[in-house]
Amino acid sequence: MRLLIATSNPGKASEYRAALEPCGFELSSLADFPPLAEPQETESTFRGNARLKADYYFEQLAVPCLADDSGLEVDALGGRPGVRSARVADSDRQRIAVLLSWIHEAEAQRGTLPRTARFVCAICLRLPEGRIEVEGTVQGQIIDTPRGSRGFGYDPIFYYPPRRKTFAELSPSEKNRLSHRAQALRRLLAKIQTSRQAANPRRPEKKRKGSQSEASRSSLRLCNLA
Ligand code: IMP
Repeated sequence: MRLLIATSNPGKASEYRAALEPCGFELSSLADFPPLAEPQETESTFRGNARLKADYYFEQLAVPCLADDSGLEVDALGGRPGVRSARVADSDRQRIAVLLSWIHEAEAQRGTLPRTARFVCAICLRLPEGRIEVEGTVQGQIIDTPRGSRGFGYDPIFYYPPRRKTFAELSPSEKNRLSHRAQALRRLLAKIQTSRQAANPRRPEKKRKGSQSEASRSSLRLCNLA
């Protein structure tokens, strides 16, 4: 399937490329098309913004489009910056400094606060026949001193306890298996497989109680995301 990855964020684009190209998707990027104004992300949810972007590029360019919206929800900040994660400041380094300053301010006013946080990713795949929408999340903790040089965005202060590393210390392939984007992609691939089977029901699938569907298992095998 040919697919436009509708993002101008190079960090995200390379993660999608790494995950989807081995699955046989032929990916194009916005750079392969004449320049277009970016749509305003006016919705208050990740899902709403992903849908808004996928619909916009599909209507402008008439090709299957994958768009996402993602960000960081920090519990001590009541879920901020959330859908505004990219708008906190102009560079990753500044975004991290501003976020930490907000947490320190909140702690100065309210005492010790939980450092729990989660990355959220909503993906909308817009096809001529309709939309497929999924979400993925990954839980972690915000640390005060950035660690690691990989990844992008808030990765250096997002500590992932099961690996005892920040996301910026994970190898790209580890992050591509564990991240919120990977979770959402797994769900997307399973849904694509299910809808292909629904459109071509010659080999009905036997459901086994408590197990993943064959569609979902073969998507995972196909893309090495399991
Ligand atoms: P979007 O382009 O509106 O989805 O903005 C997402 C913003 O959230 C990015 O600019 C990053 O600051 C942050 N973000 C999303 N995903 C990640 C990630 O995997 N690692 C680190 N930061 C992320």
